[in-house]
Amino acid sequence: MPTPSMHVQRVELPDGRSYGVTVGAGCRHDLSSVLAAVAPRARRAAVVTQPNVREALGPVVTGLPGDTFEIAVGEEEKNLSTIERLCRSFSLAGLTRNDVIVAVGGGMVTDVAGFAASVYLRGVSVVYVSTTLLGMIDAAIGGKTGVNLPEGKNLVGAFWQPSAVLCDLDALDTMPARELRSGLGEMAKYHFLEGTGPISRTPGGLDALPLDERIARCVAIKAAVVAADEREGGLRAVLNYGHTLGHAIEIASDFSVMHGEAVAIGLVYAGALAQQLGRIDAARADEHRRIVASHDLATRAPGGLDPEPLIALMQRDKKALDGLTFVLDGPNGVETVTGVDPALVRRAMSSVLD
Ligand SMILES: NC(=O)c1ccc[n+]([C@@H]2O[C@H](COP(=O)([O-])OP(=O)(O)OC[C@H]3O[C@@H](n4cnc5c(N)ncnc54)[C@H](O)[C@@H]3O)[C@@H](O)[C@H]2O)c1
Ligand SMILES: [Zn+2]
Repeated sequence: MPTPSMHVQRVELPDGRSYGVTVGAGCRHDLSSVLAAVAPRARRAAVVTQPNVREALGPVVTGLPGDTFEIAVGEEEKNLSTIERLCRSFSLAGLTRNDVIVAVGGGMVTDVAGFAASVYLRGVSVVYVSTTLLGMIDAAIGGKTGVNLPEGKNLVGAFWQPSAVLCDLDALDTMPARELRSGLGEMAKYHFLEGTGPISRTPGGLDALPLDERIARCVAIKAAVVAADEREGGLRAVLNYGHTLGHAIEIASDFSVMHGEAVAIGLVYAGALAQQLGRIDAARADEHRRIVASHDLATRAPGGLDPEPLIALMQRDKKALDGLTFVLDGPNGVETVTGVDPALVRRAMSSVLD
């Protein structure tokens, strides 16, 4: 049973696939009771993790027999060969359809182990112990799993929901500092997705909450969006707020700007663009700058990035539906806006580029 300092948020889905996301210090130690509850027929558990995660946090206790399978660190290991290797290891270890896979790590581990779980024996249960800030507030929730191809990131994957997610706040203590700060960029995004939600009426909004409550609220916002649009039919695109320019900056900087850092700059840009379009006023656009800065992140892109290549990358964004497409704030909150005037897109660049 979760202690009072634990927050449990449910992701409500049809067909008995709803699950709980627990946020709290030390909650990974509840893993064995969670597994007993969500995978009662499991006789074995296959733990998938990374060597440095295991070193930082020690082994997890599943309460079931089974092996631990390690994947190497780094986005380049998020590929189909890793999936094949894992599935072959599961088979050699005798993992059956009733058994359970446990992913312990950040978004890289949960994406890989989740995808392996979706295809091994045409699908076995998976439980995530999320150990990074980005994992807790984004990657571990919502059922998107997958790996990269040389042609692009996350091009092969499946929607496969976990049976439970544990976000152990103690894991944040050992995270590399820059990774943690990058996760804050994703967190800043949720400030604007709160919209007219309950926290918007508390002074300071999401930003003023203690970290555990803030993470729990980010989880709740993502859970609500996923429940309303599990397979990204439309609404789920709001989770890409700040990501259109963010993705372009990641690519143009050869990934020297990290995901959350790039999203943070993308948020400032999205605010400026929405202001250009008359969707929000100057104060709300400024709020984007203030919130990003309050998360200890840069509000402007590093020198050396030019607007034209960034605009070209945004035109190629895989989520672009009709010309230049952005997720923008406005009178109805954050929503997808298609066919944005390229002249305004160019003009708003001065808000983040020197
Ligand atoms: N499925 C989704 O909806 C979704 C959403 C967003 C991002 N993602 C994916 O998530 C991945 C990025 O995830 P991430 O930012 O968590 O990075 P990550 O999983 O690569 O982890 C970053 C680094 O921190 C280490 N680490 C993790 N937890 C640690 C801990 N507690 N202590 C010490 N070190 C620790 C990892 O080994 C790694 O070296 C990308 O592959 C991205 O595509 C998926
Ligand atoms: Zn993101």
